[in-house]
Amino acid sequence: MPENNHTDHPASSTKQDRSNGGERILLTGATGYVGGRLLRLLEDSGRPLRCMARHPENLRARVSPQTEVVHGDVLQRDTLTDALQGIHTAYYLIHSMGTSDGFESDDRDAAANFAAAARNAGVKRIVYLGGLGEDDDDELSSHLRSRHEVGRVLKESEAQVIEFRASVIIGSGSLSFELVRALVRKLPIMLWPKWVSTEASPIAIRDVLSYLMETLELPLGESKIYQIGGPQPVSYGGIMDEYARQRGLKRMRIRVPLLSPRISSLWLGLVTPVYARIGRKLVEGLKNPTIVTDDAALRDFSIRPVGIQEAIQRAIEREDQEMVETRWSDALSSAGRTAKWGGEAFGSRLVDSRTIDVDVPPECAFVPIQRIGGDAGWYYGEWLWKIRGFMDMLIGGVGYRRGRRHASSVHVGDAIDFWRVELIEPNQRLRLAAEMKLPGRGWLDYEVCPRPGGGSTIRQTAEFDPAGLFGLCYWYSVWPLHQLVFAGMLRGVAKRAEAYCQDPANQTSP
Ligand SMILES: NC(=O)c1ccc[n+]([C@@H]2O[C@H](COP(=O)([O-])OP(=O)(O)OC[C@H]3O[C@@H](n4cnc5c(N)ncnc54)[C@H](OP(=O)(O)O)[C@@H]3O)[C@@H](O)[C@H]2O)c1
Repeated sequence: MPENNHTDHPASSTKQDRSNGGERILLTGATGYVGGRLLRLLEDSGRPLRCMARHPENLRARVSPQTEVVHGDVLQRDTLTDALQGIHTAYYLIHSMGTSDGFESDDRDAAANFAAAARNAGVKRIVYLGGLGEDDDDELSSHLRSRHEVGRVLKESEAQVIEFRASVIIGSGSLSFELVRALVRKLPIMLWPKWVSTEASPIAIRDVLSYLMETLELPLGESKIYQIGGPQPVSYGGIMDEYARQRGLKRMRIRVPLLSPRISSLWLGLVTPVYARIGRKLVEGLKNPTIVTDDAALRDFSIRPVGIQEAIQRAIEREDQEMVETRWSDALSSAGRTAKWGGEAFGSRLVDSRTIDVDVPPECAFVPIQRIGGDAGWYYGEWLWKIRGFMDMLIGGVGYRRGRRHASSVHVGDAIDFWRVELIEPNQRLRLAAEMKLPGRGWLDYEVCPRPGGGSTIRQTAEFDPAGLFGLCYWYSVWPLHQLVFAGMLRGVAKRAEAYCQDPANQTSP
């Protein structure tokens, strides 16, 4: 395989460089984290693609028109026959950890069903992503033991099985990474049990995807196991430290030599209930080192995985990018305002979103948004904003007095009082990033959409990425005040939009 530099666009095997163009690929787990990310790359590669899912209806809207979506459940053998028909390479990106306590037997049965159906269909290659850990470790956790067993069972298919073994995958949305960061974010004082010094070879999701894609270029032949991971082993504590460092969080540690992974998993249930069920099984594996001890992947593939620092940096950057690209009007229901106390949660972020309908076209509705801040003010609670700015200055922030460069024109990068313009789409969207001192990061986002019968809907979304417990306390404690201010601001924008539409010369008063 040619040696090339690993670029920022992993596995962007384009339509030109695919070598097995006509050979149909089956992707399982496309509704999951790794499969969902691989789906895009496979579609971009132009290869004929079929996705198999337990609930195809959940997937259809997310695939391109060329991609087939079929029903299949690996625990029901008869559903697999059609799904595997005519398939050259099948990706197996499935686990049963979320579904039952008997996940080991479910995963064994699932792999056996898949292997049998693949053998009958004459599938040539199965690509499986499992977990690292030494086979001969008597204390291997049930989760890692099961991951290895799945790889062995898949070989009953008689297809070439390429098994990748990975440790923690670093990427926004990856279960193991979300666990790490939930622990760091929520606990200013961290219990530091013995297992935090267990070593792992974390790997960036982009590198995992590159390996999964480059496998399509491998010649058919014998089955292989590839251990994949970053260049340096790092302890779980080291991963948490690096995440805390990059997010500017200071964490106090209390060493507790006796805390076992099992007790930690109960503690995890209290701290991060969302991930607790699956997470517990992962935490029990924290006593096992998951480091790369074999460099076959570096010999057979061109990928050179990045280290933990870059992997975490990429995860944070990608998350930010995704939030910029989020259209709140699509992501949230069309309901006027956020119904839940504290707002909607989007990953680690909290969001207050509300809409108002105005009988003016988007060009008019956008005028007060474009002129917000500076002399035009924030359309509600002006004195509250001034107090906020004064307090910001007292604690060394930029304060309220920067104003704006121009009364009506706005560019990306402009300062508006204590905000910075992050995105501007004329007559549609303005996104401001907060530069005042906050225990976290904040954004204010306005979107204007035309309504089918005429007029426009204005959506105002405040977004907060809290830094640890202090950030969460801040958001919840100012929530009642925010309700008042955010509602007032949106009403103020609407009034000014209508006033402007009636009299374009009048650009400031309602
Ligand atoms: N994420 C990590 O940090 C990490 C680290 C190392 C290795 N891995 C490995 O990577 C692979 C993918 O992990 P992931 O993080 O992407 O998992 P995930 O997000 O939890 O997704 C699991 C996928 O499996 C599907 N699935 C579960 N039971 C199924 C069944 N009976 N029939 C058909 N599909 C079924 C789920 O579909 P539904 O939507 O129907 O539930 C979902 O698409 C796993 O083998 C895992 O061990 C992951």
